[in-house]
Amino acid sequence: MSGTAPAWQRRAYSIDALRGLARGALPRPVFDFADGGAEDEVTLRRNETAFDDRQLLPQPLRGAVTRDLSVTLFGKRLSLPVIVGPTGLAGLFWPDGERCAARAAAAAGTVFCLSHGSVCSLEQLAATGAAPRWMQVFVYRDRGFTRELTERAAAAGFDALVLTTDNQLLGNRERDIRNGFAIPPRFGLAEYLSMAVRPGWLWRMRGALNRITFGNYVRPGEADDIRAIAGRMASLLDPSMSWKDVEELRKIWKGPLLLKGVLHPAEAKIAVERGVDGLIVSNHGGRQLDGAPASLEALPAVVHAVAGKIPVLMDGGVRRGADVVKALALGAAACLVGRPQLWGLAVAGEAGVAHMLEIYRREIDRVLGLCGITRIAGIDRNLLFTQHRQE
Ligand SMILES: Cc1cc2nc3c(=O)[nH]c(=O)nc-3n(C[C@H](O)[C@H](O)[C@H](O)COP(=O)(O)O)c2cc1C
Repeated sequence: MSGTAPAWQRRAYSIDALRGLARGALPRPVFDFADGGAEDEVTLRRNETAFDDRQLLPQPLRGAVTRDLSVTLFGKRLSLPVIVGPTGLAGLFWPDGERCAARAAAAAGTVFCLSHGSVCSLEQLAATGAAPRWMQVFVYRDRGFTRELTERAAAAGFDALVLTTDNQLLGNRERDIRNGFAIPPRFGLAEYLSMAVRPGWLWRMRGALNRITFGNYVRPGEADDIRAIAGRMASLLDPSMSWKDVEELRKIWKGPLLLKGVLHPAEAKIAVERGVDGLIVSNHGGRQLDGAPASLEALPAVVHAVAGKIPVLMDGGVRRGADVVKALALGAAACLVGRPQLWGLAVAGEAGVAHMLEIYRREIDRVLGLCGITRIAGIDRNLLFTQHRQE
């Protein structure tokens, strides 16, 4: 990094350092909303520590002067195998957070995936022209609404549709209970007082807070009252979702269709049979079922079940370039990152997300160089250390 980089960039020298800065920038309830997981946060922690259990076995004498980090996914070339994953309410971390993150992802040459629960609407996001862009949806009790969102995403030129399957009931996030954080966020006197300890954030958000809403759910002509919408949203999700719904979506959506939240190899197999184009091995960042396996631990069996027929992506706990390389060595085509984009937003908006992606790019590049690998396709299982190989 150049000596003329802004102070925040020099201090945000890693994803963990960026998290530290975000913690200092955000009111506690907002930081915890992003940082926390379900119940005892066992899955949340395992997501990260599972990477520590894998080691890389370098062969530096292969000579890797320059490294090409690009990958091709669904016919699009990405400049690095890191995708900005869907996170609801990004606009609570920085004004117009979703569009800032999308612009940063496009400039970095990678995908931005919009959450169903974005503050801006999918049409407003598309108006930035940022691409490739993916849209994340749920299955709703009103299947007509699922169809409507899907058709809107198609009309707005989204490149892929991501159906998240692990959120039909909301996880039990105890930090939010402790902090009195609610969706929709309340902005009464008590909340403003708790926010006042973070004057930078409060000042920045002063014009945006009363416009926080779920943009995709605002009906034309309806006031964008987040309270009314959030009430409607909670009752919208349907735990009776099944493969029939995946089939329906497959019929409506002509482009690449991905399932997010797959952990079981049996589900992965069925998904391939039903014409799904890609899987995202994910436990929702440990925010839903506490006790689910770490994504990295679930990944190999899913990759095996899919047998190379469709790309398998993963997210959860990816905090280092080395983590990305380990996931790819276990068969992932790319990784998504959730919280790191929110930390980037909290620290410096669009520039923060750009910096976050640059940290991954730098780290992946260094890891490949140290391992003697010149391109992403050169990453395979042989890169992982196994005890017996040493004996
Ligand atoms: C604040 C927050 C909001 C999220 N909202 C969504 C969402 O709307 N839809 C979705 O599919 N996943 C959502 N996720 C899950 C992420 O897409 C992703 O699976 C998870 O954050 C990955 O783990 P990581 O944060 O360790 O990178 C959210 C995650 C966070 C932290």
